[in-house]
Amino acid sequence: MRSLCPLWLILLGSSFVPFVSFVARNSVATMSEAIPFSNNAKGEPLLSVENLEVRFSLGPNRVLTAVDKVSFELYPGETLGLVGESGCGKSSLGRAILQLIRPVSGKVGFLGQDLTQLTGSALRSMRRQMQIVFQDPRGSLNPRWSVGRIVEEPLRVHQLAGRDERKRRALEMLGQVGLAPSYFNQRPAQLSGGQQQRVGIARALVTRPKLVVCDEPVSSLDVSIQAQILNLLQELKEELGVAYLFVAHNLGVVRSLSDRVAVMYLGQFVETAPAAALFDRPLHPYTKGLIASVLRPDHTARAQLNAAASFAAGEVPGLLNAPSGCRYHTRCPYAQQRCREEPPVLEKVDKEHSVACHFWRKILDSK
Ligand SMILES: Nc1ncnc2c1ncn2[C@@H]1O[C@H](COP(=O)(O)OP(=O)(O)OP(=O)(O)O)[C@@H](O)[C@H]1O
Ligand code: SF4
Ligand SMILES: [Mg+2]
Repeated sequence: MRSLCPLWLILLGSSFVPFVSFVARNSVATMSEAIPFSNNAKGEPLLSVENLEVRFSLGPNRVLTAVDKVSFELYPGETLGLVGESGCGKSSLGRAILQLIRPVSGKVGFLGQDLTQLTGSALRSMRRQMQIVFQDPRGSLNPRWSVGRIVEEPLRVHQLAGRDERKRRALEMLGQVGLAPSYFNQRPAQLSGGQQQRVGIARALVTRPKLVVCDEPVSSLDVSIQAQILNLLQELKEELGVAYLFVAHNLGVVRSLSDRVAVMYLGQFVETAPAAALFDRPLHPYTKGLIASVLRPDHTARAQLNAAASFAAGEVPGLLNAPSGCRYHTRCPYAQQRCREEPPVLEKVDKEHSVACHFWRKILDSK
């Protein structure tokens, strides 16, 4: 988290969002074809992201493109897992969708509006429908407020209920996240990390949003607590019909929670597919490497070692000096001259599976 203000300030839908430096909107961005990776989900997408681009200005002539023309759709009640190595742009994407960071170009269609075009009260009123759960529960809660006030605050900011009703709904929400009413008057510092994250989840869901960005919501918690919080998120999703954009490093977690998964590498999506298809039949060499690098008990020690070694090959380039052509070519065991020169586009393999690799068919046939 590199924001300049406490996380709890960002969350409240307040107009006071001290955005990090960003480059002004660029209306001449090249538009690549949007890949609506729809699935069995019915109806209209809840969220439709088109060619979204996020840049950070790091000084004179130093601009870092953290999200590079990303497109996807998310359907009501769906969970899209987002995976990729540290620094590839996952959080920037999540925040740009919520307009916590303003993208330089692209569209974020949500409930019939393009969020990138909204400001002030129009944007604030959409915020009740889209929330975020942060990685660091402690840093995301105002330490001076009681748990009850923290959970009530979104209802107050969005003027959704009077005082008594706010309290009733906050208590109900605390119950839904497994916290007894006695926590209502406690301060965050009196709670464990897992309990703090339950408060963060209660605050995110109390306005009954349609979309929640979960940005590594369990990675700062003890392993024993992680499963409880993940179960809670899954139960609440089923109960409330909320859609999640779920960012995580742990592929096991992503597999178990996600309907679909998007794999990100240096600011771009390189593969998107339903979770089962992605893990059973990964097509992009990077996805294969990611999956293989997770130790699997059904693999021999040698197979694990080979997989991990081939994945680890090569330096991980940064976003500031992203390689030409296919950005993965410096690490890819299948790279050829074309890969160094021509960026692959995300192409549909079937209705639900897309991959950005010039040679995915050849690689598949060579097995
Ligand atoms: N406010 C900022 N100012 C400048 N650069 C930033 C800012 N926020 C993010 N970045 C840079 O943008 C890139 C993407 O960062 P981001 O936090 O989105 O990655 P991530 O995939 O979420 O990483 P992690 O898995 O470590 O959380 C990184 O190179 C990061 O240093
Ligand atoms: S396009 Fe080339 S470098 Fe990129 S993943 Fe495919 S084979 Fe590897
Ligand atoms: Mg992150």
